[in-house]
Amino acid sequence: MIRKCLFPAAGYGTRFLPATKAMPKEMLPVVNKPLIQYGVEEARAAGLQHMAIVTGRGKRALEDHFDISYELEHQIRGSDKEKFLSGTRELMETCTFSYTRQVEMKGLGHAILSGQPLIGDEPFAVVLADDLCLNLEGDGVLAQMIALYKQFRCSIVAIQEVPLDQTHKYGIIAGEQIRDDIYRVNSMVEKPKPEDAPSNLAIIGRYILTADIFDLIADTEPGKGGEIQITDALMKQAQNGCVLAYKFKGKRFDCGGAEGYIEATNFCYENLYKKGL
Ligand code: G1P
Repeated sequence: MIRKCLFPAAGYGTRFLPATKAMPKEMLPVVNKPLIQYGVEEARAAGLQHMAIVTGRGKRALEDHFDISYELEHQIRGSDKEKFLSGTRELMETCTFSYTRQVEMKGLGHAILSGQPLIGDEPFAVVLADDLCLNLEGDGVLAQMIALYKQFRCSIVAIQEVPLDQTHKYGIIAGEQIRDDIYRVNSMVEKPKPEDAPSNLAIIGRYILTADIFDLIADTEPGKGGEIQITDALMKQAQNGCVLAYKFKGKRFDCGGAEGYIEATNFCYENLYKKGL
């Protein structure tokens, strides 16, 4: 079964400069919690216990966040502030965290391949923490995808419909619809212009990948933007066997940019923070 979740977190976060000059973009707070913690909570809620984080230079705050801060914790012990750390504490007690560095920024596919020593030879989930996904009505997006994996046993990407003029921001899929919310992928293009897009179904930052993806990435030439793209490796997997695309239930906020980040902040403030969740 799926036990591990990989978080590619080496990117520079250039859309959020200057905030991300000295701070990892994954540490940007949505209300009072950093983006990476929302991702880890989603993975934990889906039953995953091993968090594998691919970091890079200048990303030490990520490791410190999921570690004890003796001075701080000593300082607030017995005060009503302790409750603000209980969620993070619980994750530290119920999950393991392992880290590796992506030394050169050669794309998302390359980042995932850098995580291979932490994952080994088993299927795993991938969360891009700047895509914040929430489902107030039921299971989180990863939990939905893991339930599908149990049924289909193949790689799965989460998708949502986007306006055609936005296709250049995403991996875009096309495929045969096998259920109202599932497609069997037969085409996949990284960030196409609208006129080259096979559909308006965009991949968002949640993946279930089978372990053969590592060899496929290792064989993948640099693609769009001169980077090694996970989309290209997945296309090979789709040609050899099966890749599914799943229209998830819930909301997704693109927190890599100001607009989505503000939307997420307002949404979380109203629906989670104010209700003490
Ligand atoms: C990456 C992927 C892209 C996907 C997107 C989702 O792009 O390469 O296929 O649609 O994440 O957020 P990035 O946003 O890292 O440029």
